Amino acid sequence: MHYKRIYRIAITLISWMPMTTGAQASKKPFAALIPMPVHIEQSGAPFYITAATKIVAANKGLHSIAGLLNGYLAMAGGKQLPVITAGPKENYILIEIDSSVISQSEGYRLRIDKGAIQCTGRDAAGLMYGLQTLRQLWVAGKNKFSVPGCMINDHPRFNYRGMSLDVSRHLFPVSFIKKYIDLLSLYKFNTFHWHLTDDQGWRIEIKQYPKLQSIAAWRDETLIGHKKESPHRFDGKRYGGYYTQQEIKEIVQYAGDRQITIIPEIEMPGHALAALAAYPRLGCTGGPYKTATFWGVFDDVYCAGNDSTFTFLQNVLDEVLALFPSRYIHIGGDECPKNRWKACARCQQRKQLLQLPDEHALQSYFIQRIEKYLNSKGRQIIGWDEILEGGLAPNATVMSWRGEEGGKAAIAQHHRVIMTPEAYCYFDYYQSLYPEEPLAAGGYTPLQKVYSYEPLPAPADSVNEQFLAGVEGQAWSEYFTSDAKALYMIFPRALALAELAWTPPGKRNYKNFLQRLRAQKTLLQQAGVPYAATFDEIVFQSVHSAGNTVQVSLQSALPQSIIRYTIDNSEPGSESAVYSKPIVLSKTATVKAALFDEQKQRVGRLFKQSFRLHKAVGAPVVLQNKAVDRFNPGPAVLVNGLTGSSRYNDSQWLGFSGNDLQAVIDLGQQQTVHRLALQVLNYHWQRMWAPVCLQLLASKDGHLYTELYRQDAFPVNGINKVEVPLQAVQARYIKVIGINKGVIPGGEYGAGGNALLLIDEIVVE
Ligand code: ACM
Ligand code: ZN
Repeated sequence: MHYKRIYRIAITLISWMPMTTGAQASKKPFAALIPMPVHIEQSGAPFYITAATKIVAANKGLHSIAGLLNGYLAMAGGKQLPVITAGPKENYILIEIDSSVISQSEGYRLRIDKGAIQCTGRDAAGLMYGLQTLRQLWVAGKNKFSVPGCMINDHPRFNYRGMSLDVSRHLFPVSFIKKYIDLLSLYKFNTFHWHLTDDQGWRIEIKQYPKLQSIAAWRDETLIGHKKESPHRFDGKRYGGYYTQQEIKEIVQYAGDRQITIIPEIEMPGHALAALAAYPRLGCTGGPYKTATFWGVFDDVYCAGNDSTFTFLQNVLDEVLALFPSRYIHIGGDECPKNRWKACARCQQRKQLLQLPDEHALQSYFIQRIEKYLNSKGRQIIGWDEILEGGLAPNATVMSWRGEEGGKAAIAQHHRVIMTPEAYCYFDYYQSLYPEEPLAAGGYTPLQKVYSYEPLPAPADSVNEQFLAGVEGQAWSEYFTSDAKALYMIFPRALALAELAWTPPGKRNYKNFLQRLRAQKTLLQQAGVPYAATFDEIVFQSVHSAGNTVQVSLQSALPQSIIRYTIDNSEPGSESAVYSKPIVLSKTATVKAALFDEQKQRVGRLFKQSFRLHKAVGAPVVLQNKAVDRFNPGPAVLVNGLTGSSRYNDSQWLGFSGNDLQAVIDLGQQQTVHRLALQVLNYHWQRMWAPVCLQLLASKDGHLYTELYRQDAFPVNGINKVEVPLQAVQARYIKVIGINKGVIPGGEYGAGGNALLLIDEIVVE
């Protein structure tokens, strides 16, 4: 691969945190499989794989799969087994394809007894999944592997089971891509969605356009830190590279051998700045342009009025099609600002000529024109849910990422849909609220949340079932500054998604999943995956306010462990109080808690959370308008002593979309108030806008209110803290009004949509 490796020391800081003790890890439960199979029955004696065991593969066509099996044995420290074509009486592993044994595509049957292992696939994919199950079943010993006797009949729930990887923001070597493909097949994914082009770099060699290699593949420098920070800081180092067509062929072959389809994504009409830097005539203004050096959504996109844009993209796609045999090609379609099109004579001319009502329709024209081209080559398009705007291309598959609404709308139009709602399926978000977590894109998407996702909630709907192809997890790489960090962010959340994609919903159980996940440790370590073992850490079960106290419930999923805690700021040790019931706080304090295992050893990181107790804690709060579903933990969250964090979906923020905030707190009786405080969030890159006007009012009777404070500007990009000292105001009722920004202005992220107003913890002292 043609790129300069940039070594970063920071990767070693990612904690490898094995939380299970040695004793637990060796007690491998029976069939700790992920994803959980449809049907599994334990039976009889185990089979032992020894140096004398033979692989039986009746025909040559199965020899590459036999080779995979030998590779898996070697990875686990085993010996290579001879591959023969006809069966001995015993001590063999039979691999075969027989569609009469199992009816569902990609299904398999695995029979293990004392004499033999028989793995039968409905098709090559099924056979390979049977071997992945076998890999997860065996327990490697010194001279033999033992495999529990059992019978498994298994097939996937969804026929689309995908994981993406963005290689534009950060590049990963060919060896990493192969490793990723291996991991996807281990967990029975069948699709790798390869995000190859974006504003920050074009990563696929296109021979007809050499400047895509010499210019679009490179950026001058890269943002350091989070994109929300201002001013932006840069590393000053040129960064770039691309995959040669030869490398891509090799990877496509590698994936195909493992029954993984690679769907390439060539972004259009937005996220195209790198291509425009190379070929400025493809943009509305003609440039000059530069490959982006930071993360975001950029105004300069392909010109929709210029026919040479389509010539370029069709020529690019011709080379893409020659490399990727997939039925589906992802053409992006997300986050395309329309500012340039509105000001471009050629775009406007096209719009008038075709009598299009607006620029959304122009985008729809763009996508449909590309769809027609790809359909003529026997391929189908996938696009992000923005392709619904202005009208769907007739045969398009929709990838629903801004929630599920786009997917539902597309299903209603009888289009094929892949669900990947941001709140559940984006693995670039934080997976823990602990402050030590390495920098991530934002939000909070813990493992349990991914696991809880259900794309087809009961009752069954045959239209949904017919058009919902499956699910995908997203691995955007803005903050994946190393291979290790990418793996840390993707795993184990990808395993939760794998189970969602494969296992019948009735067989899913989070607690049981965690048990099986802990048993995957050996396999993941063998595969060199520094996964985030944060799922057993102490988290809140609940935080309630009652009276003037706050009741804090903690939990950990780690079996046979105890939580010890302090509220006096000391470090919890082996003699600190054992947590057994909710901690009741009656004054401002910090809860510190730590987990101790069976051996009384402390495991994991320190849990630490401060609470600010004040006069409104536990007081009734009445909201005039309904909070938006995504940010509605209930009005009591405003007075529970706990403040929302920058990981905005931490269940502490209350959010309003399309309406204003108006909250009235009843302190129960008239009191002297010396101070009011609250927080609002300004994250325009997440459509979160501080109110255009914030008003704090007080009343003695709940009718006549006096304004105490008003603020019209919130300059901080992030959490804006409002602290209002008062001259001993007498009040029983406190009213907070926040006027919503309303519709997001042009040029801003999410322009034209509703702004979110987020507020948390109204402090009354
Ligand atoms: C996306 O996350 N912009 C599809
Ligand atoms: Zn234009």
